Amino acid sequence: MIRIGVIGCGQRMRSLARELVGFGDISLKMVYDPQPGQVERFVQELGQSMRPRQADSWKQLVENKSLDWVLIGSPNAHHAKQAAASLTAGKQVFLEKPLAVTMDECLELMRVQEETGSKLVTGFVLRWSPLYQRMHRLLSELDFGPVVSFQACEHISYEHGAYMMRGWRRDRSIAGSYALEKCVHDLDLIQWMTGSPVCAVTALGGRKIYIGKNREALPILKDIQWEEKGNLDLPHPCFDEPDLVEDHFSALIRCSSGISGVLQASAGSTVPLRRLSLHCLTGWIEAELYSGTLRYRTCSMEHEKLLSWSFNDLHGGGDAPLAAGLHLSMLSRENERQQMIEGVQATMAGIALGESMDRREWIDISAQLGLIDYR
Ligand SMILES: NC(=O)c1ccc[n+]([C@@H]2O[C@H](COP(=O)([O-])OP(=O)(O)OC[C@H]3O[C@@H](n4cnc5c(N)ncnc54)[C@H](O)[C@@H]3O)[C@@H](O)[C@H]2O)c1
Repeated sequence: MIRIGVIGCGQRMRSLARELVGFGDISLKMVYDPQPGQVERFVQELGQSMRPRQADSWKQLVENKSLDWVLIGSPNAHHAKQAAASLTAGKQVFLEKPLAVTMDECLELMRVQEETGSKLVTGFVLRWSPLYQRMHRLLSELDFGPVVSFQACEHISYEHGAYMMRGWRRDRSIAGSYALEKCVHDLDLIQWMTGSPVCAVTALGGRKIYIGKNREALPILKDIQWEEKGNLDLPHPCFDEPDLVEDHFSALIRCSSGISGVLQASAGSTVPLRRLSLHCLTGWIEAELYSGTLRYRTCSMEHEKLLSWSFNDLHGGGDAPLAAGLHLSMLSRENERQQMIEGVQATMAGIALGESMDRREWIDISAQLGLIDYR
């Protein structure tokens, strides 16, 4: 039996834990969440067979000697310190994205992982989607040639956006910027597909959708599916408070290989789109998550080709494969350190995007990347 503890019993960990206990060799021993209602819901949804102990603090859970793995799904600002403490206490760790909210936290996490040699597995779920896996494979199998530039966007529905603007996610000091909390997946995909980390960014963004004067205009409260995910502190997402996360941005991005491109995002769109196009020397390929489609053509093909999938989650079918990958990790001795390095690189790119919006200038993170890109 693999003995696990969970820190942060919200919607993400509910969904992951449901998948994991299905493998039959995982025993949920301990949970911690500062909101008792969240623990109750978590335990209820997992079924009567699981009766984990409830820790009084996350530190108590981390120190529990009977645990092999700690799974962390707390709000972003807690990630790095909870993960570092778990590694130091000899645990293997699953940590949700983003891995941290500051550059210093990223570097410290890398240092602690290196020192302890324990595993840190990340929650970059889109990498597990069959759509993006096929895209990545096609790039090496067909004659696309080198990537010249990319174009990416993430425009989510109003219902989804309204959810992102409430609870802890609306507070930049806890969630980090919207680019970090929501689009770190897109940054990770850009790095994975182009084969090199983001080294410099500049972005403009702000709040134009969820503001007081749009309170009555937005068709955002009609879908209660998002409300049911829970843990939302306020009924309406339109506020005029300072220090709220931005609800849109446009960014220019440069990777260390010299490839550059754009990423645009908005937290409210009548037509949701999550697109990544790669313009290559001798080909073109584009994935769109919501329609589950992949289109591509290389110079040697007579026609463009279209592949499609149908997914019943918002992660391109990546949730179950991610849980299976984590389960395999729990059983294997191999340390997937490269996965952690790439997660830290994507997190650093997201942090840089937020900083660039604040300072209105290019942020170059080559020096910080140099500090982590070692084996
Ligand atoms: N990989 C993905 O696709 C994906 C999807 C959704 C969320 N996430 C990430 O998962 C994490 C959780 O998101 P969620 O949607 O489950 O949010 P949520 O609000 O549903 O759950 C977060 C939980 O953490 C608890 N919490 C608050 N402060 C805490 C603390 N100091 N220590 C421990 N727990 C604390 C809250 O009470 C809440 O129950 C976030 O980091 C988010 O970015 C990842």
